[in-house]
Amino acid sequence: MKLAQVLFSQGFGARRECEGLIVSGHVTLGGQVVDDPFMEVETQGLVFAVRGEQWPYHAKAVIVMNKPAGYECSQKPRHHESVYSLLPAPLRRRDVQTVGRLDEDTTGLLLFTDDGALIHRWTSPKRHLPKVYEVGCKHPVSDGQAGQLAAGVTLLDDPVPVRAAAVEVTGERPDGLHGLRLVLTEGKYHQVKRMVAAVGNRVEALHRSAFGGLTLPADLAPGQWRWIADPAAIAAPS
Ligand code: URA
Repeated sequence: MKLAQVLFSQGFGARRECEGLIVSGHVTLGGQVVDDPFMEVETQGLVFAVRGEQWPYHAKAVIVMNKPAGYECSQKPRHHESVYSLLPAPLRRRDVQTVGRLDEDTTGLLLFTDDGALIHRWTSPKRHLPKVYEVGCKHPVSDGQAGQLAAGVTLLDDPVPVRAAAVEVTGERPDGLHGLRLVLTEGKYHQVKRMVAAVGNRVEALHRSAFGGLTLPADLAPGQWRWIADPAAIAAPS
C-alpha cells in the first residue's frame, strides 16, 4: 500500500493532508524520515510514526478502554464528557464506535471498533456473550436475592424474565458497599441496575470486568485504552 494511503486508512486526515504530513517530513519508518507519499509499504506488522508518535497499522481498529466514571458513551453527550474525547484524533476520525454502552457512572471494560460486523457479532442477543459485572450494592445481598437473580426477574415494561448466567455474593467491599458479581449474556438497557432493583436492593457502584473472552487488563488505568491483539478471542467458541 502507498504510504499516504496507509495514513489515510489509519485516520490521519484527508488524502491531501496525509501527503502533506509525509512530504513535510513528519512521518518516519524505523526511525527514518520517509518523504515520498507514494512509497509502497508492507502493511503486515507495520509500525510508523507521525510527529514522533508510534502507530501500529490495523486494517480494522479494535481497542479496549477502562471507562472512567463521569463519561457518556455517546458521540453527542448531554450532561457529561464523551468517552470519545478520551481517544486520539486518528481513532475518532476512523469512526470507531462503542460496542454496546455503559452508563455514565459505570466503569470498566468498554470496547470500540470501526468494524460494523464485529459490533453486530459482539452485541447480537443470539450469541449470548458473557459480560461480567462487579456490583456494589447498598444493602447486603441475601441468598434469596441472589437466588432470584439467577432464577430470573421480571423488569417493569418487559414481560420476558431476565436471569443472570452466574451470581456470586462477594461480601463487604473496602468502600463499604456489598459485593455481588453478575454474569449477564444479554445487554438490556440498565440491565444490572434494574435487575438488582427488582429484587429489592440498589446498585451504588458498577464496574464491568470482562466481555466475552476478554478481561480488563489490570494495568489499564481509568481513561486509558489499548489495541486488542487478538479480537477473535473475544467471541471464540468455548
Ligand atoms: N447494566 C447497567 O445497569 N448499567 C450498565 O452500565 C451496564 C449494565
